[in-house]
Amino acid sequence: MRPSKFVTCFLLYFLYTAPHLVQGIDPLSHELIQWREIRSSNGTKPSDFHYLVTGGYRPPVNDLVKYAVSIRFGDAKRFFGTNHMCGGSIISKRAILTAGHCMYSKRGMMIQARKLRVFAGTPRRLEEASTTQELRVKKVLPHPKYRPGKYRHDLGVLQLRDEVSPTEAAAIIPLADKATTPGQLCTVVGWGTVVQFGPSPDEAINGDLEVLPNSECTKLANFNPKGMICARNRDDSEVDSCQGDSGGPLISENKLIGVVSFGEGCGEKYSAGVYTDVYYYHDWIVENSAHLRLVSQVSLVLALLQPAWW
Ligand code: ARG
Repeated sequence: MRPSKFVTCFLLYFLYTAPHLVQGIDPLSHELIQWREIRSSNGTKPSDFHYLVTGGYRPPVNDLVKYAVSIRFGDAKRFFGTNHMCGGSIISKRAILTAGHCMYSKRGMMIQARKLRVFAGTPRRLEEASTTQELRVKKVLPHPKYRPGKYRHDLGVLQLRDEVSPTEAAAIIPLADKATTPGQLCTVVGWGTVVQFGPSPDEAINGDLEVLPNSECTKLANFNPKGMICARNRDDSEVDSCQGDSGGPLISENKLIGVVSFGEGCGEKYSAGVYTDVYYYHDWIVENSAHLRLVSQVSLVLALLQPAWW
């Protein structure tokens, strides 16, 4: 056999066996391949999506994804959604709540509003739906005490140039009106990686968690009970938010209780995810959510005028 033919035969053999080699070496890829097979057959049930947020599931009807947005940087070079950067929550027609660290580049520079796009009403990251709304950003407003590279005060508001039209697929989530309690059940929603350093999903994934007491959270590095809460799934440590979920919602009883912030790895045993405590920052969030601010300014003016009317 001439060397070129030998090389061609070898390449063909390699290409034929490569997927099997991958399965042999990497049980996770094997799981993902299996998952794809399960998904393409009809009888899907949430428990089939174990590895998928990390360790999460896709409910048959996702009631929570309507509150979540995908924040994207610049134009998608080739494919819709490949520029997903962070999650966020719709907190008013003109305001998205996200993480402070989603507003800065790796070098610590604040990202310009015109470079960002917000996608609402899009349960699939990679496919534009008839319900998809693309919104431009007017102002990037990190919490004034947030410092890039640090963990505290990890929140910010994106004030929108375009209004979100509330629909069945895109809805405003009310902010938590009371402090969380240990054991409180909640769900994180996002398009973050399905395992640490793994791929990002197309459809949003939910992970069911419970809020832990501060006595447990303070064991985590960089946790501060003032302005942070932590959550994990008691029965399955693999359920956790992960890279790409940041800024996205942690929801309890249809109220926004947290913003995905940080963790040590994802889905690690004896660990938990850390979330910015929405209730702690309630007043700052309300004051900085465009139309709500207008409402509060109007009521202030009315309150000042009142004595003059008597
Ligand atoms: N910082 C991550 C992000 O930018 C979120 C990590 C959350 N980690 C965790 N183990 N819960 O997407």
